[in-house]
Amino acid sequence: MEKKFHITTFGCQMNEHDSETIAGMLIERGYEQAGDRKDANIVIFNTCSVRENADKRFFGTLGQLKKKKMEEHENFTVCVCGCMMQQQHIIDTLKAKYPWVDIIFGTHNIHELPLLLDNLYNEKQKQLSVLQEGGEIVEGLPAKRLFKHKAFVNIMYGCNNFCTYCIVPYTRGRERSRKPEDILREIKELAADGVKEVMLLGQNVNSYKGISETGLGTCDFADLIHLIDEVEGIERIRFMTSHPKDLSDKLINTFKECKKLCHYFHLPVQAGSDIVLEQMNRKYTKEAYLKLIKKLREVDSDMAISTDIIVGFPGESEEDFEETLSLCREVRYDSAFTFLYSVREGTPAAKYDNQIPEDVKHERFNRLVDVINGISAEKNAEYVGKTEKVLVDGPSKTNSKTYGGRTETFKLVNFRGTPEMIGKVVKVRITASNTFSLQGEVISE
Ligand code: 5AD
Ligand code: SF4
Repeated sequence: MEKKFHITTFGCQMNEHDSETIAGMLIERGYEQAGDRKDANIVIFNTCSVRENADKRFFGTLGQLKKKKMEEHENFTVCVCGCMMQQQHIIDTLKAKYPWVDIIFGTHNIHELPLLLDNLYNEKQKQLSVLQEGGEIVEGLPAKRLFKHKAFVNIMYGCNNFCTYCIVPYTRGRERSRKPEDILREIKELAADGVKEVMLLGQNVNSYKGISETGLGTCDFADLIHLIDEVEGIERIRFMTSHPKDLSDKLINTFKECKKLCHYFHLPVQAGSDIVLEQMNRKYTKEAYLKLIKKLREVDSDMAISTDIIVGFPGESEEDFEETLSLCREVRYDSAFTFLYSVREGTPAAKYDNQIPEDVKHERFNRLVDVINGISAEKNAEYVGKTEKVLVDGPSKTNSKTYGGRTETFKLVNFRGTPEMIGKVVKVRITASNTFSLQGEVISE
């Protein structure tokens, strides 16, 4: 039987990278990756549970496969995995309403997929493997990267912060850091394979604590960046995501000390009101957050800064919301991911009885987006006339002569390019800007 798989990924970069690992494992075992879901006979959904609309989209898309499954039976395999599978009520719904799903596996069971597929085919029995807590970190899994020249690298898994709105600590488990030597080995291998940029991933990379067994000692996140900065072939280091409460002066100083560390910082604030921050269990105040931004800008006044903001958290008053607006005006973010608060079953905030009406949430959301977008456009306009080093990703989807790449500050730049430029750093003079991207002309390679 032909073994062609397709993965649909919902959610964050952690999920994107898990999907790269799933693809890597399957390709290693002779499966083929289909470019389109309709050409695959093994369909995999990697789900996200951070917000309710991701749940809904997943069930909607899954439902569309029922007809094909009923027609093709064992010639068509449906697998579901990711954060949603770590919730018992989702497993119950799948069993009751989607009993034709073949394999369900959790965020701690990714490495088992090849075995689960073998079992499914040999035993002709549906497979369920969901561990509630991650054990030992599984090292050495292959990954099929989206880009030849850049790679995601997990440095830690899980989260201990228990922000009251967030489901992640329940779906990804407690924090576990990889050993520094394992991370370094992976990055050296990536560099040897042509990777120039690494994106270090974790729910809270600032609380990375790697304990070496080969003499590197105990490494915090800043130490780890210093080690990666020495890896030959790597030109750019990025990371995602940070928690303000763990952002140390030592880490801020690595921006001065490590030449490959890109001057872009994603620092989720979530809200501007101290009352809301307290209710969210964020463990910092607006003032403390602003102090961190000041320190980052003291290192580099052009440091690009982005954030995540939730609008309409339970109990958020108009005054609280205005604190968020005033914080955004003060920080002047390069960009921000804005979210409507979404009730997540099992989190403390889901039980709060002062939920905000949908229309109020939407009205505040629109006002926030206007402020954020206005500032983004102004910030981007400051780039016009400057020359930027751009790592070229490839042609745009809509126009094969227009190429896209990122500046060190993570700005998307579009320009006229050629295939030879892909994966190289080129100098681009910025000629125009808009809210979400820049345009430019290549001046040299
Ligand atoms: N509702 C809305 N947004 C949320 N996020 C996390 N949980 C929720 C929720 N229940 C947002 C936060 C986080 C980002 C990844 O998703 O802003 O930083
Ligand atoms: Fe969720 Fe807070 Fe952990 Fe981020 S730090 S994953 S928002 S609990």
